Amino acid sequence: MNILILGGGGREHALAWAFAQNPKADLVFCAPGNAGIAEQATCVALDILDGDKILAFCAENAVGFVMVGPEAPLAEGVADALRAGGMPTLGPGREAARLEASKAFTKEICAARDVPTAASQTFTDPEAAAAYVAATGAPIVVKADGLAAGKGVTVAMTLPEAKAALDAIFAEGPGARVVIEEFMTGEEASLFILADGEELLVLGTAQDHKRAFDGDTGPNTGGMGAYSPAPILTPEVIERALAEIVRPTLAEMVARGAPFQGVLYAGLMIEDGRPRLVEYNVRLGDPEIQAIALRLGAQLFDVFLACAEGRLGEARLNWASDHALTVVMAARGYPGDHARGEPIGLPEIEDPRVQIFHAGTRLAEGRLVSNGGRVLNVTARGATLAEARDRAYAALARVDWPGGFARSDIGWRALG
Ligand code: AMP
Ligand code: GLY
Repeated sequence: MNILILGGGGREHALAWAFAQNPKADLVFCAPGNAGIAEQATCVALDILDGDKILAFCAENAVGFVMVGPEAPLAEGVADALRAGGMPTLGPGREAARLEASKAFTKEICAARDVPTAASQTFTDPEAAAAYVAATGAPIVVKADGLAAGKGVTVAMTLPEAKAALDAIFAEGPGARVVIEEFMTGEEASLFILADGEELLVLGTAQDHKRAFDGDTGPNTGGMGAYSPAPILTPEVIERALAEIVRPTLAEMVARGAPFQGVLYAGLMIEDGRPRLVEYNVRLGDPEIQAIALRLGAQLFDVFLACAEGRLGEARLNWASDHALTVVMAARGYPGDHARGEPIGLPEIEDPRVQIFHAGTRLAEGRLVSNGGRVLNVTARGATLAEARDRAYAALARVDWPGGFARSDIGWRALG
């Protein structure tokens, strides 16, 4: 079967790598892809927000399955368009994608089924929002309602910080909506669920590192590293999260006529064994899937295809009892201004337990150069998390890119 992956980051490279190993996969296409993906797949220039163009490409190239990587096409309804055109597609339709696109919508779904999450209120009026913040006090969490690439959230430890966050959101002009939340304490972890509208399958667990610098300091980023599994997500905590958070959410979406099909990424806060929902995303985490994919390999394609074809009830995953960890190398300055086009020298890696997944890279006159904020994901597996970490950092030390930086403490929470 020919496959099309939409996206061009580290997540999509990990997927292309995993899919290409599956004997059922013939040609793998990726739009737009990147320099690393080009080694596993055929990169194509295609507008990934245009369902009709994607369908035409699929017809011309005998594509039998489309995997949607990022959230933007999902929020635009691309998965609806592809399914309406008869194409087996992994990813929710526009209505179900609101679980990521609108924080206010997610709060409404949670309220309807008593899903444990931070108490919150949504405001469109700046004065009412300011009054609520002043009355509640800090710490408090201020979120812009809408897709903000992970940058719309301020965890304000003081009232002036909260006020500044409100001012910034309402400066966007009329129509701005803000969700103000109770500050939750605990440890964060991510639970990835595959759902086909009827059945669900736990795809894996991971922990991300959102801050740019060591010790969880510096600005928020898309994620600077991750590992899988997340030790805090014990079988008991996962069962509880499924029973109290995931299943009620999926049931509410069915009741609203918008069954969720795709990957539901539940960002959880766990305190004393009790999970609460921080947020949903409607796609795989990047860089979390880089670690999960290294552990699951080719079988990812089988479960995704089963999900897209409504056969998830038959799907199984075989887990090795191992660990994987990925370290992101980003361009100096990220998540702010940074250079592009810097040459990168990659080491020859012979060890199948190590993979370097590309994010922002491209070839310029045959040379690999940086082409984005997050650029490489140095990923390794091992019998223990410490072994996976050491292997990943040993490979990272061999990357020749003076303009790049990485955190040196990925995995610290689990490794102590
Ligand atoms: P979000 O985009 O909603 O995941 O928020 C980004 C990050 O902000 C989360 O990963 C948490 O670290 C933090 N955060 C969000 N909401 C809360 C909350 N209610 N309490 C504490 N931290 C939060
Ligand atoms: N790594 C966080 C995300 O994919 O949203």
